[in-house]
Amino acid sequence: MSDRDAGAAAALENPPARRVSDWDAERLRGLADAHETPLYVQDLDRVRENCERLLAAFPDADVRYAVKAHTGRRVLESVRDAGLDAECASAGEVDRALAAGFDGSRLHYTAVNPPARDLDYVVGVAEAEPELTVTVGAVDTLDRLAERGYDGRVCVRVNPGVGAGHHEKVTTGGAAKFGIPYDRAAEAARAAAERFDVVGIHAHAGSGIDPDQLDSHRELVARMGELARDLADPDGEDSDAAADVAPVDLEYVDVGGGFGVPYEEDAPALDLSAVADATREAVAPLPAGVDLAIEPGRYVVADAGVLLTRVNTVKETPDETVVGVDAGMTDLLRPAMYDAYHPVRNLGGGRERDGSDAPAPDDRPATPVTVAGPICETGDTLCRDRALADPNRGDLLAVGVAGAYGYEMASQYNSRPRPAEVALDDGTAAVARRRETLGDLTTVEREAGRGRTDRPEGDR
Ligand code: LLP
Repeated sequence: MSDRDAGAAAALENPPARRVSDWDAERLRGLADAHETPLYVQDLDRVRENCERLLAAFPDADVRYAVKAHTGRRVLESVRDAGLDAECASAGEVDRALAAGFDGSRLHYTAVNPPARDLDYVVGVAEAEPELTVTVGAVDTLDRLAERGYDGRVCVRVNPGVGAGHHEKVTTGGAAKFGIPYDRAAEAARAAAERFDVVGIHAHAGSGIDPDQLDSHRELVARMGELARDLADPDGEDSDAAADVAPVDLEYVDVGGGFGVPYEEDAPALDLSAVADATREAVAPLPAGVDLAIEPGRYVVADAGVLLTRVNTVKETPDETVVGVDAGMTDLLRPAMYDAYHPVRNLGGGRERDGSDAPAPDDRPATPVTVAGPICETGDTLCRDRALADPNRGDLLAVGVAGAYGYEMASQYNSRPRPAEVALDDGTAAVARRRETLGDLTTVEREAGRGRTDRPEGDR
């Protein structure tokens, strides 16, 4: 049995979604006691399960992990070992993927208005790793690559004119910022093939596509199939190319990521094999030798992570009960930025006002509360009007489905050190990112004061 077949068999065993209620409360309480809060916990076993499910549902596709969802070293290594490639959005992500052991043939750099520093870096990497692919969404970017002497592997990013996603801020497909407009894409790809090795076409509908948005995704996929046929056969009926135009030999059609995960406790999990069937059907028939590629980020890591936070203040007001916790929008930005829903579970452990132990959460009434962080902004609210087992000071809360775009979007706003993260690997816990200290907040200032340039030797 090949590794991929073995993975497919294992994938049938693992559940399509892990809910916050599925986590072992005792274990999480122990981790919070040992490492303090706020604390991210990322379960690498679940990351591997998610990879296996994707590979099993898309057995003939190239599966590329969109690294931006979680760039932790241990996560990247787990994804690499599971057999996924890496899709990177910046020089920093390429650097981290290389450090985690992805070689050039498994690296895809998606250049969105790429800063010169990023292009310089990636072109440098490509000299040593010529199998790396650069995905380009503007003719200008092609010119800037050529100016740097790059003539290697290029994938043309297309704006398919149709998008989807959990919020308008992450609905990418129709946004002019991304990709070459669909009507001009074939011409741009043919012109690019005169200067580069054009190996793929790419489109991404958006992030967190719900089951009810799958029609838009299918439309995007169908358009990409049509474009691939046009490029392979410019004399065919899908093409309006001029006579004597050379075919472009693609290796793949990348239809992006965006596979949604259920955040709400009762939301259904995505039926991945149905999505895979619909994708294959919509893109078909692909020209001979052209593979399908996908780029899931969230699906790989979201339900493998929780954020643990401690209740520090309970305030009754005439309108609502505000439960103050030690994690804020600096630790988990998604609720403030996208009004995103994250499930919250009270794991208990707190005390009553008189100092006695509070009862176990299951034995408390559920009360609607607002959970708010320590940042001086009204938007720093994890949830409102949410029924939680009556919180007490000292209780530990688990914020679920926090493994994607959680730590990744953390900041030091309000001079808050970023939280620690623990990785669980085959049941064993190890610190994957230490908690930042107050001293870390001023490292870059102190280094500047010592006359260091903003790009010291060897920082890349
Ligand atoms: N490929 C490309 C080119 C992308 O831009 C993205 C996400 C993905 C793949 C992966 O999408 P996913 O499978 O993770 O949905 N911070 C936001 C999400 C922004 C995603 C941006 N691009 C959030 O927290 O919801």
